[in-house]
Parts: sequence; structure tokens; C-alpha cells
Amino acid sequence: MKYFFRLFVSLCCTIFVFSAGAGAGDKEVLKPRVPANQIEEVRTWKNPFPSTPQNIEKGQKVFHSKGFCVTCHGQDGKGLGNIPGLRGKLPRNFTDTTWQAARTDGELFWILKNGSPGTDMASFIPLVLTEEEAWHVLLYVRSFGQSQN
Ligand code: HEC
Repeated sequence: MKYFFRLFVSLCCTIFVFSAGAGAGDKEVLKPRVPANQIEEVRTWKNPFPSTPQNIEKGQKVFHSKGFCVTCHGQDGKGLGNIPGLRGKLPRNFTDTTWQAARTDGELFWILKNGSPGTDMASFIPLVLTEEEAWHVLLYVRSFGQSQN
């Protein structure tokens, strides 16, 4: 019974992924991931590192090496969307400027701490990344939104 339920859920997710996609301006993508009772505080968190070319480069290294973000979000930051075994939602497309504008740095940091529940976006702090590395990788994530569109 449990097995059939899982199958049903994953079928629904697959249908959802194909119908909703991760397109720019997609309403589902813009919905906050941080729970309502935390979001006010989380939005006050600021990146302590300035967005200098050197800091962005440090973030780029994390993205490609120990953070392995590139395996899901892609070289171009658009999210690959065809990863076998992905449960449900597609990796975020970081070049979506509407999505970039909808999130504060604090909300992105919260995601690196907690993951996005129910998706393949896992928690990275503290097991994989230090807080400092996480802030740097977020400078790199932000840079996708500036260089395109
Ligand atoms: C196993 C695949 C996978 C890996 C590896 C991965 N992500 Fe993700 N990521 C996802 C998925 C799937 C989502 C979409 C989750 C959602 O829609 O809630 C996502 C969403 C995000 C978001 C957007 C959350 C929001 O508020 O909309 C950020 C930021 C992010 N990832 C950053 C990273 C960073 C930085 C790394 C590397 C340290 C990374 N991801 C590694 C799969 C991955």
C-alpha cells in the first residue's frame, strides 16, 4: 500500500514538473520557501560579504567543487531539469530575474541551511559548507541574475 502511495505521489510530481516547468515568472517558483513564522526575521539577514569580483569568484569555486551545485543548477545556472530520479520540483533557474527580485539574500541563506523541504534541494550548512562559503556561493548565484536578460 505504501509503495502504491509513493508511486502515485511520484507520478503526480512528474506530471506537475512537466506541466508547471520552471519557467520565468512561474507563480509556484515565486512562492516563499521560508515558513511564514520565520520569514520576517530571515529577511533581515544580510550577506556580510560585498559583491566584489574576488568574492564572486570564491563563490564560483564552491558552486563547482565542494558545493556540487553545478550538478543540478548547471554551468549556466538555468537548472538542468532532466536529472534522473529527481523528486518533483526542478532545480531553480538562477537567470530568472523575476525570481531573483522575489527573494532576499536571507531567504536564500535559509535554504542553504534548511534545504527546500520535499524537494531535492538539500541542506548544505554545516555539513558541506561553512556559513562563509554559503554567503560566497550566494554572491555567485546572484551574479546569474545580473549578467543575463
Ligand atoms: C540534487 C540537486 C541539487 C543540488 C546539488 C543543489 N540544488 Fe539547489 N535546488 C534544487 C532544487 C530541486 C531546487 C528547487 C526547490 C524548490 O522549488 O523549492 C533548488 C533550489 C535552490 C534555490 C532556490 C530556493 C528558493 O528560495 O527559491 C537556491 C538558492 C539553491 N537551490 C541554491 C543551491 C546551491 C548554492 C547549491 C550548492 C551549494 C545547490 N542549490 C545545490 C536542487 C539542487
